[in-house]
Amino acid sequence: MLKLTNIYKVFNEGTVDEKVSLDRVNLELKPGDFVTIIGSNGAGKSTLMNIISGVLLPDYGTVEIDGNMVNHLPEYRRAPMIGRVFQDPMAGTAPAMTIEENLALAYSRDKKRGLRRGVTAKRRDEFRTYLQSLHLGLEDRLNAKVGLLSGGERQALSLLMATFTEPKVLLLDEHTAALDPARAQRITELTEEIVSRQKLTTLMVTHNMQQALDLGNRLIMMDKGNIILDVPESEKQHLTIERLLDEFQRLRGEKFASDRAVLA
Ligand SMILES: Nc1ncnc2c1ncn2[C@@H]1O[C@H](COP(=O)(O)OP(=O)(O)O)[C@@H](O)[C@H]1O
Ligand SMILES: [Mg+2]
Repeated sequence: MLKLTNIYKVFNEGTVDEKVSLDRVNLELKPGDFVTIIGSNGAGKSTLMNIISGVLLPDYGTVEIDGNMVNHLPEYRRAPMIGRVFQDPMAGTAPAMTIEENLALAYSRDKKRGLRRGVTAKRRDEFRTYLQSLHLGLEDRLNAKVGLLSGGERQALSLLMATFTEPKVLLLDEHTAALDPARAQRITELTEEIVSRQKLTTLMVTHNMQQALDLGNRLIMMDKGNIILDVPESEKQHLTIERLLDEFQRLRGEKFASDRAVLA
């Protein structure tokens, strides 16, 4: 469903700030795979997501989605295939627009269904049904401005908007990190619910190692632009945080007192 081959990305090439952000990364996801990604700051996790969604172009390497090479497609042409939720609850939604207008915008992202003016009664009913699945009462607030919602509510709405068009690939970039523990937990549960109901092929970056262990059927660890550990489903079930930290130290070949802080 998603195939990355030899992805190489360098920033500020030839300057003192030169930084190889991705160093020949290979990754293949089967349909329905739910892969969690952990790794220290600057490992290249967000760059990877930017390259999949077309925000950035790789210097070398290819991106295939559902068997199609998408290297030449700009971000807006990939948008119908990709759902994405960012860390910042402000990033996924338009604050000055109502809940209904935001949903309509997300809906029209899937160009196959065509752009429609306004929201029909039928569409409004669909939106209500989708919103009900969040169990936040947002279905009764279709005309509320999104800027008035709490961070957790906005993140739930972002998740809904990223997924209700059934994208080929769902990208979650620390999408619970900016929330308080209770709200983060709710969004985590929603994520599990939506991904398993729609069998979405998903990449989820998280700093929460327990979350990385609990969710999904595969776990990868990134460091310095590389995938340094790739744990399949059979082994993931037996993995613990302690073992992950040991592996991180072993694979890095360095000992950091702050490992737990870095990865957890
Ligand atoms: N637009 C950019 N310009 C220059 N350097 C960048 C840019 N984006 C990312 N980088 C650098 O690439 C490296 C990987 O960044 P990123 O993918 O954001 O890491 P992560 O998400 O794993 O924390 C970092 O060293 C970062 O500073
Ligand atoms: Mg990041």
